[in-house]
Amino acid sequence: MKIMLPADSKMHSKAFTFGVATASFQIEGAVASRLPCIWDTFCAIPEKIRDGSDGEQACEHVKLWREDVDLIESLGVDAYRLSISWPRVMNKDGSLNPQGVKFYTDLLDELNQRGIKTFVTLYHWDLPQHIEDNGGWLNRETAYLFADYADKITQAFGDRVYSYATFNEPFCSSYLGYEIGVHAPGLAKKAYGRQSAHYLLLAHGLAMKVLQKNSPNSLNGIVLNFTPCYSATDSAADVEAASKADQYFNQWYIKPLFDRCYPEIIYDFAVEDVPIIEDGDFDIIAQPIDFLGINFYTRAVYEADAVNGFSQVDMVDKPKTDIGWEIYPQAFTDLLTSLNALYPLPPIYITENGAAMDDKLVNGKVDDQDRVEYYNGHLNAVNNAIEQGVNVVGYFAWSLMDNFEWAEGYLKRFGIVYVDYQTQQRTLKASAYEYRDFISARK
Ligand code: NOJ
Repeated sequence: MKIMLPADSKMHSKAFTFGVATASFQIEGAVASRLPCIWDTFCAIPEKIRDGSDGEQACEHVKLWREDVDLIESLGVDAYRLSISWPRVMNKDGSLNPQGVKFYTDLLDELNQRGIKTFVTLYHWDLPQHIEDNGGWLNRETAYLFADYADKITQAFGDRVYSYATFNEPFCSSYLGYEIGVHAPGLAKKAYGRQSAHYLLLAHGLAMKVLQKNSPNSLNGIVLNFTPCYSATDSAADVEAASKADQYFNQWYIKPLFDRCYPEIIYDFAVEDVPIIEDGDFDIIAQPIDFLGINFYTRAVYEADAVNGFSQVDMVDKPKTDIGWEIYPQAFTDLLTSLNALYPLPPIYITENGAAMDDKLVNGKVDDQDRVEYYNGHLNAVNNAIEQGVNVVGYFAWSLMDNFEWAEGYLKRFGIVYVDYQTQQRTLKASAYEYRDFISARK
């Protein structure tokens, strides 16, 4: 299996950025050298993580980061997307932790020296536990603490960073973490989900102002995830159900950035579920962004439901990845063209796309042709969107290497590099070789 795009694809140009992505909690380990975060606490609750694991070792990246930079360089990528662990770089009193900061400045220096562009996410879900103890994302004050963290860390990083994202997937933090409780901190209430989303978005806006001031030469923006919603049938009721689901899960996080309001589904909410919004909040949230990061994995199909308005239909017998997500690349093209029609978008980076597959290490090799096929289908889907006028300028594979997949623990492997968690040995999978060859063939 090969990754093959049409000969005239803009993605064959070196002007298009290709990279690989990771996140702090999922790879770093070394929990003792930082403050506890909400994922440490969550992992300690029985049954929350499918294999009972935690972030204690993960990929031991704090120890092995030099080898990992070699690995990244060996792939020939233009860029590396990583996240900063807030509890590693900040002390409880709000001052910087020099040891934690040094870990990242060394890493960023090394990447820069090798000509690898640094895409830094400030928040990929690892909230310091002491801030959660004070209400976490249900406390408006947390948005201001985040802006302060952004202020201090960007000053410390100076000009080492090519691009900053404030947040990764605020949907996951708010909905999975505070509304249905399958992610840290594990709270479950609709009102909590909506309120935390609002404070996350507020924090994004506050931090954007800081980034534009402290780091005006980097590309500053946010990373949002989308699971496009399709209707199970053409019936008016199902079409409306899909539209409501889309507003609730997708548009909720992007519409305020451009339109200074939430989608109209907010008017269906019971009074107690409507978030508290202060005057001026939308003006803060709608700061101009230099780029939009989009994470895409799958789609979802909905039908009308008398109780909840919409309910997801399981696509039995459709091709799925090892995590049970339907493989449907057309949704990627549809998503990009529809967002482009709805909003005045800045340049788009695909900040994550990839697949969990049931990889087997056999005689020192992982022949993950299924993952190569996924990448081929999805890169072509992006190319189709570009042909239809969407300004996509970069693409990051999720992930550089297998890592801690949140509530799934280490059971699901998303890497293009295989990690043996006993020995910490990294082995390039067939998909890594194919991605490398595809990237290096560019002109
Ligand atoms: C979304 C998240 O940003 C990342 O942390 C996660 O591992 C992947 N998608 C796969 O679920």
